[in-house]
Amino acid sequence: MKFVRFIMKNAALASVPKHIEHFSKFSPSPLSMKQFLDFGSINACEKTSFVFLRQELPVRLSNIMKEINLLPNKLLTTPSVQIVQSWYIQSLLEILEFLDKNPDDFKVLGEFVDALVTIRNRHNDVVPTMAQGIIEYKEAFVHDLVTNQNIQYFLDRFYMSRISIRMLINQHTLIFDGTLNPVHPNTIGSIDPQCEVGDVVQDAFHSAKMLCDQYYLRSPDLILQEMCSKKKKNLPMSIVYVPSHLYHMLFELFKNAMRATIETHDNSNNLPPIQVMVSLGDEDMSIKVSDKGGGVPFRRMEKLFSYMYSTAPAPQIGERTRPPLAGFGYGLPISRLYAQYFQGDLQLFSMEGHGTDAVIYLKALSTDSIERLPVYNKTALKNYKVSLEADDWCIPSKEPLDLSVYKVPK
Ligand SMILES: Nc1ncnc2c1ncn2[C@@H]1O[C@H](COP(=O)(O)OP(=O)(O)OP(=O)(O)O)[C@@H](O)[C@H]1O
Ligand SMILES: [Mg+2]
Repeated sequence: MKFVRFIMKNAALASVPKHIEHFSKFSPSPLSMKQFLDFGSINACEKTSFVFLRQELPVRLSNIMKEINLLPNKLLTTPSVQIVQSWYIQSLLEILEFLDKNPDDFKVLGEFVDALVTIRNRHNDVVPTMAQGIIEYKEAFVHDLVTNQNIQYFLDRFYMSRISIRMLINQHTLIFDGTLNPVHPNTIGSIDPQCEVGDVVQDAFHSAKMLCDQYYLRSPDLILQEMCSKKKKNLPMSIVYVPSHLYHMLFELFKNAMRATIETHDNSNNLPPIQVMVSLGDEDMSIKVSDKGGGVPFRRMEKLFSYMYSTAPAPQIGERTRPPLAGFGYGLPISRLYAQYFQGDLQLFSMEGHGTDAVIYLKALSTDSIERLPVYNKTALKNYKVSLEADDWCIPSKEPLDLSVYKVPK
């Protein structure tokens, strides 16, 4: 019996490249917030969602698996990246098993929900495991600017794909497991049709504050201001959004702002507060987090969103006893992906010597909130093939120029 299972497993594994080839030829289908809500509305149809997901999940998985294969060989073959790749293969195979199953069979629908839960749990540690692979690679090999850019390009797309796949899985499992969310009965899966931004700001601030008190034994206060364009004056400052995504972004921004504030004012008894401005317009919901934490030199600004850079010492993997206030240096890049996922953005403006403003831009209208998804195609492929070429801007020399060589002999 064991032997038969072994042969079957091997046969399934051998078919993986063929499946990836097939499904990566399809482009992922971005869903709008409205479509997400429709899947979960009164006439929600589990069967429709099942039929959509058993095609769409393999498409999203295969598109990104094609890109994993384009990573530099020395990174691809690290044990950590190999583990991540095996999770993707396993999950793809598990979903493909539903391709020929009957959508009218309740048992099949139930098994599908269970399979999705297993897959979600399997992928829980993708980010730290991938980060570990990058650390191994960074330590073992000298890497050039182009490789750094390729890895940045890949990780932005890889993590965005992961956010989107988890969103699909969460919506299906939360909506169709038959239970109501007892804390937030009005949410549709993980979406709150009336997500009150001010409340999420308060929640995220208090969590970061607790962490900060634990480390530094003190923390700055919060000043929250809400602004609304005239038309909407009396309406609550809410949007259709995924509160857990917004919470994630704000929590990361608050941790950074608190760390900067405390480290800059370590000799002072008073800490300048962190100011948050929430502003709702016709198109944008913008949230600005301002600190007086000394800012960042302009030269370093671009690096802040890099997966290869952090000023905090790297945390040890598996060390989960206390969540660190600063860790892999993934706080900003991942938060920016969450903002961009529904067509928003996250930008940092800093004045060295003073402080930093971090602004989250979200779409105010749910009709504008549409998934932003990577697609594997020729353009993507080209980005991995970029090679080291000469810069088309002069590189200033560090040595003083010896002007005597230009002297005309008398
Ligand atoms: N508000 C800020 N003021 C000053 N420096 C900042 C601020 N926000 C970010 N930085 C700098 O940007 C770097 C990257 O921030 P990021 O949040 O991405 O990673 P991290 O805080 O180092 O680690 P973690 O993954 O735990 O967030 C920080 O190490 C810090 O040097
Ligand atoms: Mg951080």
